[in-house]
Amino acid sequence: MTVSLTQTPLWQELQQHKQGLQAGSLRDLALADPDRLEKFQVACEGLRLNYALNFATPKTIELLAKLAMQQKLDDERARMFRGEKINTTENRAALHTALRQKSNQPVLIDGVDVMPEIHAVRRRMTQFADDVKEGRLKGATGKPFRHIVNIGIGGSDLGPRLAVKALAPFAKHFAVHFVANADAFELLSVLEAIDPAETLFIVVSKTFTTEETLLNARTARQWLADRLGEPAVAHHFVAVSATCKEVEKFGIKSEYLFPIWDWVGGRTSLWSAVGLGIMLAVGPKHFDSMCDGAAAMDQHFRNAPFAQNMPVLLALLGIWNRNFLNTSAQAVLPYAERLRDLPRYLQQLEMESNGKTVARYGNKLDYATAPVIFGECGSVGQHSFHQWLHQGSEIVPADFIGIVDDDLNHPDHHRALMANMAAQAGALAFGRPQASSPHDVYAGGRPSNLILLDRLDPFHFGLLLALYEHKTFTQGAIWNLNSFDQPGVELGKQLARALVADKQAAGKENVFLKGLYNLILHANKNK
Ligand code: F6P
Repeated sequence: MTVSLTQTPLWQELQQHKQGLQAGSLRDLALADPDRLEKFQVACEGLRLNYALNFATPKTIELLAKLAMQQKLDDERARMFRGEKINTTENRAALHTALRQKSNQPVLIDGVDVMPEIHAVRRRMTQFADDVKEGRLKGATGKPFRHIVNIGIGGSDLGPRLAVKALAPFAKHFAVHFVANADAFELLSVLEAIDPAETLFIVVSKTFTTEETLLNARTARQWLADRLGEPAVAHHFVAVSATCKEVEKFGIKSEYLFPIWDWVGGRTSLWSAVGLGIMLAVGPKHFDSMCDGAAAMDQHFRNAPFAQNMPVLLALLGIWNRNFLNTSAQAVLPYAERLRDLPRYLQQLEMESNGKTVARYGNKLDYATAPVIFGECGSVGQHSFHQWLHQGSEIVPADFIGIVDDDLNHPDHHRALMANMAAQAGALAFGRPQASSPHDVYAGGRPSNLILLDRLDPFHFGLLLALYEHKTFTQGAIWNLNSFDQPGVELGKQLARALVADKQAAGKENVFLKGLYNLILHANKNK
């Protein structure tokens, strides 16, 4: 039997180390070392992580880096990049890194090099994006496309949605809309504002079985066929999927199917054809540059020693906060409107990957894993939930994300944003222990990371996303999880499918709750 992580001497040593540290405060740590701000910093290209505002000393980092060694992070990392089937429950590789690999070095799955196929699909995407932009591909009535509607959910929505907004200043060509919710309000609001003759729909679904996506795609298809006639569907719908049969049945021609593969996880798929909407919005050159940023972070993750490795440090500090300082949430606070969707994206990335209580090989874990990820643009959050961050009963670590040189912003606004970001991080860390009224006391001792992008352009955006991807992977490796499956979402899907299919119950009062009870009771009888 393998020893639980919490029973290892290193874990115990970290616990003891924490007891020693707890006597002091973040203020004490800052005062003890005037160079702390410079020392507790790593950079990769134009991205910087400053972690001086954490409850950590060089000894903490040393012990945590040892923890990563003990958990064989280096082996796991090598297995991922090599294309081994690290998604053990689904027997799949997790090769999003190959999608942005710069070199032509072969990457093998079951002895087959996946690089030629990756390049072939990228070439097709590029050609398609150019053809649509230049008007060589038009709608059924001969009008050029002006609107793109991405229909997808989860990883088939959140990444492209985040990217198109983050890179909006680079997106010159089309208005790109996103529809994910099964509530038709989202789709209908988009349809109301567009002309069918000028609209291209991208149905993005790796499985092409996702209920919400198919509902939205069918409704959109009907809307288009009603206005332009059934034959127009073939001109206005493209699909991104790992399956051909379902796509064909939907009426999408094979030239309009952009494949992805089972070794691309949904939440890390925007580098694949799932990013077609991004490529249409910003153009192939900027899409490539986004991939280059991610590839630069991949190299850093592969090569930098753990104690200077940005994603590893971010992951280790997260583990320190979660497992040793017992925090249960993590705030993500971008001081940039263009990164407004980052917290939602990270919710899926981190919570779907590592929100688990069973280890990779099936044993029950006796330690906490992914915290609650939540957040909002800092500037907006300051006027809603930051009160809770500063004086609430929980200590919640925060990632502050700022843009150093945002020449696309108004200089006065940019200065205000950066000043507020620094002020919030400082107030959380150091507080105000003395005040004339107890209401005005800020305890401080609330840790945070500062993540600074030199600019918010495609390259730096790629760096940022890959940083969090590898953070999530690292935490999964240390917690001994399979970060690439999501079995916890299946039961609800099955129950909902059975309820929707229950025609008998339809129209009756309380129909779904009663149906649910029947389903559960029936299932139990059969046990
Ligand atoms: O239900 C969860 C999930 O499978 C996510 O992991 C995935 O990103 C999303 O649904 C969408 O899946 P698909 O791309 O197959 O429609």
